[in-house]
Amino acid sequence: IPVDPFDLVIFGATGDLARRKILPGLFRRYCAGQMPEEARIIGAARSEMDDDGFRDLVREAVRKFGGGRDCYDEALEGFLAHVGYEHVDAMGEGGWETLKARLRDGMVRAFYFSVAPSLFGALAERLRGFGLADDDSRVVVEKPFGKDLASARALNSTLAEHFDETQIYRIDHYLGKETVQNLMAVRFGNMLFEPLWNAQFVDHIQITVAETVDVSGRGAYYDTSGAMRDMVQNHLMQLLCLIAMEPPARFEPDSVRDEKLKVIRALDPVDYHHIVRGQYIADEKQPGYRSHVEDPRSTTESFVAMKISISNWRWAGTPFYLRTGKALKSQASEIAVVFKDAPHSIFGPEAGRHANVLVIRLQPNEGMTLGVTIKEPGPGGMRLKDVALDMSFADALGPDAEDIPDAYERLIMDVIRGNQTLFMRGDEVEAAWTWTDPIIEGWQRRGEVPKEYDAGSSGPDDALMLMHRDGRKWRDIKA
Ligand code: BG6
Repeated sequence: IPVDPFDLVIFGATGDLARRKILPGLFRRYCAGQMPEEARIIGAARSEMDDDGFRDLVREAVRKFGGGRDCYDEALEGFLAHVGYEHVDAMGEGGWETLKARLRDGMVRAFYFSVAPSLFGALAERLRGFGLADDDSRVVVEKPFGKDLASARALNSTLAEHFDETQIYRIDHYLGKETVQNLMAVRFGNMLFEPLWNAQFVDHIQITVAETVDVSGRGAYYDTSGAMRDMVQNHLMQLLCLIAMEPPARFEPDSVRDEKLKVIRALDPVDYHHIVRGQYIADEKQPGYRSHVEDPRSTTESFVAMKISISNWRWAGTPFYLRTGKALKSQASEIAVVFKDAPHSIFGPEAGRHANVLVIRLQPNEGMTLGVTIKEPGPGGMRLKDVALDMSFADALGPDAEDIPDAYERLIMDVIRGNQTLFMRGDEVEAAWTWTDPIIEGWQRRGEVPKEYDAGSSGPDDALMLMHRDGRKWRDIKA
């Protein structure tokens, strides 16, 4: 179903994110028939370029990053007819009047800030000052949304000077992932899981976002950030919220965001013994972290594992173990809900201990596995065995699975529709920093140096110890 006609202005339109994600994503929505005839996408950036110059850039970006799907030339030329460019000076006066002249009345108007956060204020001010934005316009902002609580607050208040919270769309692209939204469908669309979804029945939960990519090519940014700010404060926090929150009354923006906020506010401060920081070192095939960043003595972490507890009625006593890292042996994002053992084994101690595990695979090989216990076949008495009920979304959904929009496609269309459900509210981001800041400050205060781990491994040994100490074990991340 096409969305309402829109003018979408992308600031930073020649940058990496626009070329990799935003523009190819819009093209795919065009191919899917979701873009109305009147829609216009206007790139805006510092480079001097005309419409055709920008169309060349978009053509190249779509060919390179469009994913191949439906990426045929005729469609591409049709899409480019929707695209234009305006050279704008974010900090000055240049270009704003001409950009304004391009915008049409009666359209949804959205401004995508795909620029450094230091420009958010200047852009917001000019959008209002030159009269490009009104009370119905929307602004989309990217992470990093601050580097700590103070900077996030400053960004929020700068944006709030010019726009109402209902106009601000803070992107965490994990929320746009189909499988992440599926967490809510699984929890709240089935009767089967929710009654067991609490400390009485769940032993612990593991959240893993393991990446094989290292930080080469983006060392300058990454070294000022580290895994805690780059991944935990946002993406892992969002996954934790969706897994742990109470059922919202409705799938509506504030219902969902209120519940997520309650989870973040119920997080206990993390004891520093419960966190492991790591940094990858070279193996025969790959260079180490320090050769990817400028500072040869950098102590920024490229890996974090931690044990978290949520002090509320539902989760008191059930630990959540989180881990994420770069240059690991495989790419695997998944959530594992490990249930408690049956309270009593009628088969005697020789049957061993067996716990059900529900694994939700976010990427790759998206799907779900439920580990169940059955009888081991054969005449040898009642021996038990754990097997997997395994479902991959690709198999279960058939051809429909191929049409699933990627995270950015989904989120941009939600902006046009005016649906903030999958975007972070200002208080949510601030609450996440409130929890994160003392952890990072603690590392700085103690001068903590990250543990080394081999590139291509599954992280530092101390991360294994974090669970072993509790008599538990990380699930293997498959090579
Ligand atoms: C980004 C981080 O937000 O998310 C990157 O800055 C990370 O460091 C990326 O690699 C992971 O996203 P995805 O969609 O590839 O899981």
